[in-house]
Amino acid sequence: MELITKTKLTFLKNAWYVAALTTELDTETLLTRKIIDETVLFYRKEDGSVAALRDRCPHRFAPLSKGIRSGDEITCLYHGLKFNELGECTHNPHGNGKIPKACAVKSYEIEERDGFIWIWMGNRSKADRSKIMDCSVLSQKPDTAVGHIYMYNKCNYQLLTDNIMDLSHIDHLHGPLINTGGKLSPLLPNVQEEGEVISVRWDWLAEPAMQLFAVHLPRPEDEANQYFQVDWHAPSNMHLKVAAVQDSTDYTNDGLELYDFHIMTPETEFSTHYFFASARNYLEEDGEYNAAKMAGMEQAFIEEDKPMIEAQQQEMGESGFWELQPVLLSSDAGGIRVRRKLSELLEIESA
Ligand code: FES
Ligand SMILES: [Fe+2]
Repeated sequence: MELITKTKLTFLKNAWYVAALTTELDTETLLTRKIIDETVLFYRKEDGSVAALRDRCPHRFAPLSKGIRSGDEITCLYHGLKFNELGECTHNPHGNGKIPKACAVKSYEIEERDGFIWIWMGNRSKADRSKIMDCSVLSQKPDTAVGHIYMYNKCNYQLLTDNIMDLSHIDHLHGPLINTGGKLSPLLPNVQEEGEVISVRWDWLAEPAMQLFAVHLPRPEDEANQYFQVDWHAPSNMHLKVAAVQDSTDYTNDGLELYDFHIMTPETEFSTHYFFASARNYLEEDGEYNAAKMAGMEQAFIEEDKPMIEAQQQEMGESGFWELQPVLLSSDAGGIRVRRKLSELLEIESA
């Protein structure tokens, strides 16, 4: 198999992407967002469900997001063509009012669940909702144990995927609250592939547990069992579990577990929408802790990951990843497996 070297070849079209957070779209907003190089207009219909149309009028390509909304329809502000939520033109104010056959806008399959608005960017007949990553824990836990964040990054989305698939970076880039005190890098990550899901896992005996957890364990100073597991779903959606337990191996019932979602949606070849959400199985009713925890996660990303990854992209310029012949380390096992899998899926889609 020939590896794809240019990042510009790496957008899967027949895939589910998160387009926005539920909270970004109220009943009034006309939200425009570029996804895999296509600008899409999102708005909430009168029944509360989400409509998504190509944000480009077919007449002279004015963005429909600059238009005027009436009911579930949008009128282009430039010369007045009107479109419904399916992208069909319903009114032409010019000449005899006849609507040309080609006068229509692409509309998209949408699924809203667990605080995310998902969009299928490819052929609508291939949209399979069972392929959306399961984030249902975000709906199962109380609001005081759940948070969602949107972040914007000037880099290719695969660099952000690499960042999660290789968590060894936390001991080098991040502070003591979320690092493992050097435990992670020497470990060989366990990589598994099942169907289209690639998992990478690290298990270790912490002495003591990560600071994030230690204070909530029965004996904060003592050793604890810990693990990280990342499940990657094509093209760039990841579920990360982080856990610690003492005197047991039953993390879910006896220990502390975080359920994190790192979802990367390419805007362009060199810019990415990053959606992060998190839930947990401890202090579930503590809203104050929840707010502080989410703020801490956002701050760590904005101040530590983002500057490094954007600088990495700047240094790489427009060169492809493989073209630059990266040195591979043991900690890269999961990330490299994902890059190869994505290349395979792209080959299949373009065949
Ligand atoms: S550009 Fe929209 S009606 Fe002319
Ligand atoms: Fe990080």
